Amino acid sequence: MNIRLDNAPLTDDQIEQLNLLLQGMEGWQVEWLSGYLSGYRAAQQAINEPAVTMESVSAEQPVLTILYGSQTGNAEDLAELLAENAKTHGIKASVVDMAAYKPKQLKKEQYLAVLSSTHGEGDPPDNALDFYEFLQGRKAPKLAGLQYSVLSLGDSSYEFFCQTGKDFDSRLTELGAAAIVPRVDCDVDYDDAAEAWINDLVNALAESAQPQQASTAVAAKAATKQSQYDRKHPFPATVMTRQKLNGRGSQKEVLHIELSLEESNLQYQPGDAVGVYPQNDPYLVAELIDLMGFDHDEKVELDDDTYKLSEVLLHYREITVLTKPLLEKWATLSQSESLQQLLEDKSAVNDWLQGRDLIDLQQQYPLGDVTASEFVDLLRKLPPRLYSIASSQAAVEDEVHLTVATVRYTAHDRARSGVASTWLADRLNEEETVPVYIDGNKNFKLPQDDNAPIIMVGPGTGVAPFRSFMQEREEREASGANWLFFGDQHFLTDFLYQVEWLGWRDSGLLTRLDVAFSRDQEDKIYVQHRLRERAADIWQWLQDGAYLYVCGDAVSMAPDVNEALLDIISEQGKMSRDEANDYLRNLSKDKRYQRDVY
Ligand SMILES: Cc1cc2nc3c(=O)[nH]c(=O)nc-3n(C[C@H](O)[C@H](O)[C@H](O)COP(=O)(O)OP(=O)(O)OC[C@H]3O[C@@H](n4cnc5c(N)ncnc54)[C@H](O)[C@@H]3O)c2cc1C
Ligand SMILES: Cc1cc2nc3c(=O)[nH]c(=O)nc-3n(C[C@H](O)[C@H](O)[C@H](O)COP(=O)(O)O)c2cc1C
Repeated sequence: MNIRLDNAPLTDDQIEQLNLLLQGMEGWQVEWLSGYLSGYRAAQQAINEPAVTMESVSAEQPVLTILYGSQTGNAEDLAELLAENAKTHGIKASVVDMAAYKPKQLKKEQYLAVLSSTHGEGDPPDNALDFYEFLQGRKAPKLAGLQYSVLSLGDSSYEFFCQTGKDFDSRLTELGAAAIVPRVDCDVDYDDAAEAWINDLVNALAESAQPQQASTAVAAKAATKQSQYDRKHPFPATVMTRQKLNGRGSQKEVLHIELSLEESNLQYQPGDAVGVYPQNDPYLVAELIDLMGFDHDEKVELDDDTYKLSEVLLHYREITVLTKPLLEKWATLSQSESLQQLLEDKSAVNDWLQGRDLIDLQQQYPLGDVTASEFVDLLRKLPPRLYSIASSQAAVEDEVHLTVATVRYTAHDRARSGVASTWLADRLNEEETVPVYIDGNKNFKLPQDDNAPIIMVGPGTGVAPFRSFMQEREEREASGANWLFFGDQHFLTDFLYQVEWLGWRDSGLLTRLDVAFSRDQEDKIYVQHRLRERAADIWQWLQDGAYLYVCGDAVSMAPDVNEALLDIISEQGKMSRDEANDYLRNLSKDKRYQRDVY
């Protein structure tokens, strides 16, 4: 029997050969051939198409990219926490530093989580700058297929609260992306709000792929880091040394504090900070309670425990900083029309908030009839304060050293004092302990290469981490050159750790030292002036692969130093302003320009 194969995609020759083959065959042979052909086909497909793996079987799993913008590590830690929780729900998740993210990838994303803090005055953190600008710019792609959510970290005492997170959120919506769960803006006490957002996001993602798991509550806490002591469980560190660093007659008051970490197993690296849970001033607490007309010993419920009101205000609630959200709640409770009016004028309210506390608020806009519990409910948790670590564990083992400047000023005819710095300086008794945790900072680290030169710019307490860097490099016998720019008011009284710096210079560990004492001559001289004077050498060090570090004041010093660096780069490198900017940005991306400013 000859087969007619009119529409077959075969040549005449091939049809003839096929007919010849089939004509001589028994039925069982035809059957065998048909099986052989289908096996042959499957084998061919296996070669041409990707193997069927466990991954492709679970192709319905959502793939989540988690981008973080973080200066001091909070958003980064939460990004890791989200990834851990997502993975326990079978969601593929990868955590990416915004600085390392390729914007072209954006169009390919299925699910995106953006976690970002806000720094400066409503600015993105350094590692988020490029991505932020790309997204705001005209080159940003349409993102109609993308589902996303934003977690923003901030501090409501700043005028531009959580601005960067808000900007990311509105821009992603503008580009057509859809929110999986709404953005959450977190204040200084961010743990609970952040964990709730993580739960909601992971559940929403799990629901989209695996309905059977949708109702599982994610225990975000279960995935937190394993160490015994952390931000939520601080270690009571004993004060071993507390010593004033300034000489007599100084207008500054900076303390060197040594704490014992013995038996805590806490580990830190140079560049990390210590978080300190402080206590409010008991006199201020007493004055406030009296002004409010409460009983000091009145019992108040807090986090399922009962405390005396004075205890709550001493340890757990913020009484010295006013925020706009607090004012709004206060206006509602007090029914004060004048406070309501003030709130309607944005710049007037920002001005009014400066240098005022709860006592001022109650004096000017009295609350009237509220209970102690209602009053406590209005207040934010007393947030921990961060201090750059001034020691290396390689040198001091179970100790951690801090360099703390006390904050004291007069505002609105009343002397005021910083909560944590004056607690550490004045009120902490010898036998008391300081509740601390380590706040790691991956964005402020010595180069891995011990031979790499480093330039450190650290005026005032900004010098703290550089003491840690020097101790570490000394212990490691690192051969890289080290150059410090230090500045303060007066050489005689304010050269912090002078003996150590001069000792390191004599031993050769400190290759160069430049100092700027602003008030020792008529014209103010700051570190940025010294940088400009040394422009050619700085440029040479950069050509030799130097890493640049800046620590200290965020308001004036860091922008002025940045400006000086841009001038040096454009002048010495013969670059335009834009090119110099790109050069500095690239240094930052390569982790060769790192800043820890506050
Ligand atoms: C990553 C990081 C590292 C840090 N490292 C160090 C360090 O090494 N050493 C160090 O000393 N600090 C460091 N700080 C700052 C430190 O965390 C505290 O902010 C600082 O000690 C003040 O805290 P406080 O509780 O004493 O003052 P607060 O009670 O917080 O009061 C400070 C606030 O008072 C207000 N204020 C201050 N002066 C005036 C004025 N003249 N008029 C009106 N209002 C005013 C401002 O609002 C200011 O924010 C660091 C901060 C960060 C984020
Ligand atoms: C120098 C400095 C400036 C800040 N500026 C703002 C701000 O403008 N708006 C805001 O909401 N939060 C601001 N914050 C608060 C941070 O966003 C907040 O501490 C956040 O938890 C930091 O997260 P990160 O460690 O991931 O950077 C600022 C903090 C610092 C130290």
